[in-house]
Amino acid sequence: MRQVRTEIRHGDCLEVLKDYPDGAFQLIFTSPPYADRRANTYGGIKPEEYVQWFLPRSEQFLRVLGPTGTFVLNIKEKAESGERSTYVLELILELRRQGWLWTEEFIWHKKNCYPGKWPNRFRDAWERCLQFNKSRHFKMNQEAVMVPMGQWAEGRLKSLGSNDVIRFNSRVGSGFGKNIANWLNRTMAYPTNVLHLATECGNKKHSAAFPQELAAWFIKLFTDESDWVLDPFVGSGTTCKAARELGRCSVGIDLVEAYCDIARSQLSEVECLLFEREPEYGKSHGVRDKGVHRGEHP
Ligand SMILES: C[S@@+](CC[C@H](N)C(=O)[O-])C[C@H]1O[C@@H](n2cnc3c(N)ncnc32)[C@H](O)[C@@H]1O
Repeated sequence: MRQVRTEIRHGDCLEVLKDYPDGAFQLIFTSPPYADRRANTYGGIKPEEYVQWFLPRSEQFLRVLGPTGTFVLNIKEKAESGERSTYVLELILELRRQGWLWTEEFIWHKKNCYPGKWPNRFRDAWERCLQFNKSRHFKMNQEAVMVPMGQWAEGRLKSLGSNDVIRFNSRVGSGFGKNIANWLNRTMAYPTNVLHLATECGNKKHSAAFPQELAAWFIKLFTDESDWVLDPFVGSGTTCKAARELGRCSVGIDLVEAYCDIARSQLSEVECLLFEREPEYGKSHGVRDKGVHRGEHP
């Protein structure tokens, strides 16, 4: 029987993670405190000190991530005095030196970003989701995030006649024509690395919560049911909530006790939902244990 376990731990992730064994997690998905942001709520870190603050923590992340695991970091540098800060770029370079592979960069396009006017730029409507791995052979369930083919198939593919495809293939030998012909008559396609999601409006419990859909997308892509997910800066518990609803075990850590309480209350809402759905869910997933656990090791 599979168990879905969820732990919310209070403290600095640097210290709390020392309780967990090497390779305990399959996915680390997190949005850390951004430099100089929300200093009143949980202490802003200066952009010039950010990398040095982050590296001891990412050393722990590297240790607790399994060999086929993935680390996704949702972060965005702000613009100050007419210039973008470079600390995220510096962090990427240092993480590579620490032993991480920088495998991919996803863009979260915030569909509903608030309106505004600045003298030298436009509204900031996207954030990075940086993907890091320990090895090139990481777990990736591409089929779990497929999207409907939609308009693209009708327009782009049908405009290429069969002669076009043959001519393109023989001229450059790229296989491009042959490859796109494979997609004719299919209803589903693989997504791009741009995710179009609205920012969280409903959740007023944390000033920097990301949408549950964002966490859920990466959890489906990089883990299987019963795998362990870690969010070392869990805030209101969004990642753990998404993990729990998807039948993944998770650990969430936050420095602020009040956020841990919010996270735990979000999780008890999930519990209620699971109880309501029990007959169907229990049958297909074999979920037995619905308690919110604390202090148990993966
Ligand atoms: C950007 S917020 C995360 C929001 C979260 N993704 C959500 O959906 O609610 C970053 C969180 O990191 C926490 N934090 C800051 N420093 C920390 C540390 N050293 N260890 C653990 N948590 C920390 C903050 O209290 C804050 O809740």
